Amino acid sequence: MPKTTAAITAIGKYLPEKVLDNATLEKMVETNDEWITTRTGIKERRILDIPGKATAFMATEAVKDLMKKSGLEPLDIDLLLVATATPDMPVVATAAQVATNLGAKNAFAFDLQAACSGFLYGLSVASSYIESGRYKKVVLVGADMMSSIVDYTDRTTCVLFGDGAGAALLEPNSEGLGFVDEYLRSDGVGKDHLGIQAGGSLYPPTEKTIAEKKHYIYQDGRVVFKFAVTNMADAAAEIMSRNGLCHQDVRYLIAHQANKRIIDATAQRMGIGDEKVLMNIGRYGNTTAATIPLLLCDYESQLRKGDNLVFAAFGAGFTWGAAFIKWAYTKQE
Ligand code: UT7
Repeated sequence: MPKTTAAITAIGKYLPEKVLDNATLEKMVETNDEWITTRTGIKERRILDIPGKATAFMATEAVKDLMKKSGLEPLDIDLLLVATATPDMPVVATAAQVATNLGAKNAFAFDLQAACSGFLYGLSVASSYIESGRYKKVVLVGADMMSSIVDYTDRTTCVLFGDGAGAALLEPNSEGLGFVDEYLRSDGVGKDHLGIQAGGSLYPPTEKTIAEKKHYIYQDGRVVFKFAVTNMADAAAEIMSRNGLCHQDVRYLIAHQANKRIIDATAQRMGIGDEKVLMNIGRYGNTTAATIPLLLCDYESQLRKGDNLVFAAFGAGFTWGAAFIKWAYTKQE
């Protein structure tokens, strides 16, 4: 009997309407379009600005989009995973809210926290459940409302991030398509260079932590950049070498969108040209767990059944890795 693999069979997305462009940021902090564009590749990002709405709302909308496109019914969902670093509430799983919003009464739901690598890690979890035969329809969402943790007076972080959500349906495949291999790693050294210091069990909120702005995201950009370039490129190269893939075999690199220069360095290490590098960072900035599914959505009509895709990500923690996926469908226009 052929081995059952886990394949992405449908995708969906949600992006808030409000656009925050570089010209507007120039009026908020001491920055300029030229710096942001040359250092990051970002031109604009989306901001969720609807009172009472946060990550669960965006995740729900992304799954609704997926359901509309695929015909998936809420009661058919077995498991709903939400990868996010910005849950609606610290203890309640955002995934449980999303499942209830959708009426996915037959699903169990939980969150997964691996920051910018969340969707990649989530693919590993979702695939394992499907390969084991335990569940047949797993919905994986990557969703982040980065505007809720960004200090809009800090130019080193506020130009980088945006809000958004993307969702994927994973199902069993018997043609050898879908998730083939993964190389995932983490290193706790990252907590000193990228994260939110207070608000967790180590430093619960106090007047002092608030006054010191310890509830906003901080980043030592230069250090993170070095780790990101090295580890994402190494992981992508490793996944290619152990699956016998040379640059001609790879159809596209699907990389976490944090910085155009990091993505370019990864592509260079893989030996692939620009035409194989999918990029939308210019329009959305870094949406953390949402970048990879948003990329899949924006380029869905370009993807063909059987395409060899290398996924790669790097994020807070640190967390990083790469995966080899054989795309399972060609979109019917
Ligand atoms: O997604 C999770 C993982 N995160 C990442 O992968 C991000 C990794 N890091 C990066 O992408 C880059 O380090 C940044 C885009 C964050 C920064 O680029 P950089 O080339 O590493 O710049 P830098 O931090 O070394 O700063 C260079 C200069 C500094 O001035 P001095 O010290 O040289 O005088 C900064 O103060 O640029 C200054 N600067 C800015 N100038 C204008 C920092 N932010 C800004 C800004 N506008 N927004």
